[in-house]
Amino acid sequence: MTDLDIRESQDSDHAMITDLYPEAFPEEDLLAVVRALLGASEGVLSLVAIKGSEFVGHLAFTDCKIDGAQAKVAMLAPLAVAPAFQRQGVGSALVRSGLLRLREKDVSRVYVLGDPAYYARFGFATETSVAPPYSLPDEWREAWRSTPLHSRAPAYAGRLDVPAFWRDPKLWAP
Ligand SMILES: CC(C)(COP(=O)(O)OP(=O)(O)OC[C@H]1O[C@@H](n2cnc3c(N)ncnc32)[C@H](O)[C@@H]1OP(=O)(O)O)[C@@H](O)C(=O)NCCC(=O)NCCS
Repeated sequence: MTDLDIRESQDSDHAMITDLYPEAFPEEDLLAVVRALLGASEGVLSLVAIKGSEFVGHLAFTDCKIDGAQAKVAMLAPLAVAPAFQRQGVGSALVRSGLLRLREKDVSRVYVLGDPAYYARFGFATETSVAPPYSLPDEWREAWRSTPLHSRAPAYAGRLDVPAFWRDPKLWAP
């Protein structure tokens, strides 16, 4: 998509971002976690996609830990694209830009709970050695994925330790 700018969100974007989620995900209530992400003073990378002068998408990454180890890892969530702009490359541009930015910050691996077919295209493969914060139903096993950002990324093992605003079992259940 031409004319697409990906940048970090600013305070003035927050209302547009919180309006987007009920529109893109009418069946899921992500507003509490989205507000917490936007209000976090550190540990969150929040990106917006702007086409021309129009706000068309949002993606956040949260810094996480693995069982208190020193690993510098992150989790991708949530991602939403305005319905009129879906399937035009906006989500892909947000994900690719975010992964590049995290690589520059020396983050070594990114985890996601999402559609396997969608995230496989960015290099996310099924994750089996680092467990999600909550047990997932069997049918979601393929949906818990990760991608390394560096060739020297160590093989981690343990459980992903997420900040408090992600510790809501409803966010991890169908
Ligand atoms: C899911 C979403 C973030 C993808 O962003 P997007 O900008 O529409 O996607 P892109 O244009 O970057 O990628 C399009 C590709 O992803 C695929 N795709 C789009 N939405 C998909 C989905 N929900 N599941 C699987 N694949 C999907 C398309 O088939 C397309 O593939 P192609 O390029 O081979 O034709 C966006 O559509 C969205 O916000 N959807 C509303 C919520 C939703 O569907 N959620 C379920 C997924 S978590």
